[in-house]
Amino acid sequence: MILLTGSTGSVGLALSALLSTRGIAFRALVRDIAKASRLNLPGVEWVQGDLQDSASLSRALAGVDRVFLLAPPVENLDRVEEKFLNVAATCGVRHVVNISAVGAGIGVPHRFGHWHGKTEKYLRESKLSFTILRPSFFMQNLLTMTSMIQQGTLYVPAGTGKAPFVDVRDVAAVAAACLTEAGHVGKTYDVTGPAAIGYADIAAALTRVLGRTINYVDVPPEATRTSMLAMGMPAWLVDALNELNLGLKENRFGLVTDVVSKIGHKSPVDLDSFVRDHAATFIH
Ligand SMILES: NC(=O)c1ccc[n+]([C@@H]2O[C@H](COP(=O)([O-])OP(=O)(O)OC[C@H]3O[C@@H](n4cnc5c(N)ncnc54)[C@H](OP(=O)(O)O)[C@@H]3O)[C@@H](O)[C@H]2O)c1
Repeated sequence: MILLTGSTGSVGLALSALLSTRGIAFRALVRDIAKASRLNLPGVEWVQGDLQDSASLSRALAGVDRVFLLAPPVENLDRVEEKFLNVAATCGVRHVVNISAVGAGIGVPHRFGHWHGKTEKYLRESKLSFTILRPSFFMQNLLTMTSMIQQGTLYVPAGTGKAPFVDVRDVAAVAAACLTEAGHVGKTYDVTGPAAIGYADIAAALTRVLGRTINYVDVPPEATRTSMLAMGMPAWLVDALNELNLGLKENRFGLVTDVVSKIGHKSPVDLDSFVRDHAATFIH
């Protein structure tokens, strides 16, 4: 039996939909079963639980041999994952597919990468077998910028930096392969889109596909910090996002790989296709 965490989120929902469509039975740990059931995915066994609650994890992991472990974007997410891995190891789990992040490593200058690096180390030193997926920036992050897009200007402190933004549906395709096919034990895969792109390219694609002008303005990190804090975002998250944008600006995440086609057995979604698929959201 496969257990998914994060299955109502961005990557996890894409993975749940993929497994469900393929007729692969799986269990999904969710905090709110009523909310999850409304997703109406055939073949899913919803199980109520919380990553912070070890007793609920033991119940969810009974009879499970493979796990998809995705931590929500919380502070010190490595602690959440470590707790989960400790329970998994005592419940007979054989293989863990873990969502890490591009550029992960202990001591890197972006805290999400540092936390993911700690989980990677913990996993490598555990007795569990594993596959680590390090996705690039998600194209779906642009969906959180719809109000800027609707108003015609993307304000991001990312300069002219480029990274191969990836669609979460492609991350899900790679994860599905690693959960259901042989040959991925002990591997670490950088999961990327087809080309390195910057926010000027994103603005150009939005303009081209939506048929209205969208500009990109590189802003100082202090300006985005002030506006994100004013929106009520916690300071640690604001700073963590600025660290990632600085890494993007400095082209630290530029490597393009063929993991989606080789491991995920599909062509990676390109930027224009992503914008087309979400045009209704961006336009309204
Ligand atoms: N965004 C990027 O560009 C990017 C790039 C590379 C890697 N990553 C990594 O990807 C991960 C985020 O993935 P995502 O965007 O798919 O996340 P997401 O959309 O924020 O979804 C988070 C999921 O975790 C669940 N969850 C939250 N707290 C929980 C808890 N205490 N117990 C059980 N479930 C809980 C949520 O369920 P509910 O429905 O209950 O809220 C939801 O299903 C992070 O680890 C991040 O570092 C992100």
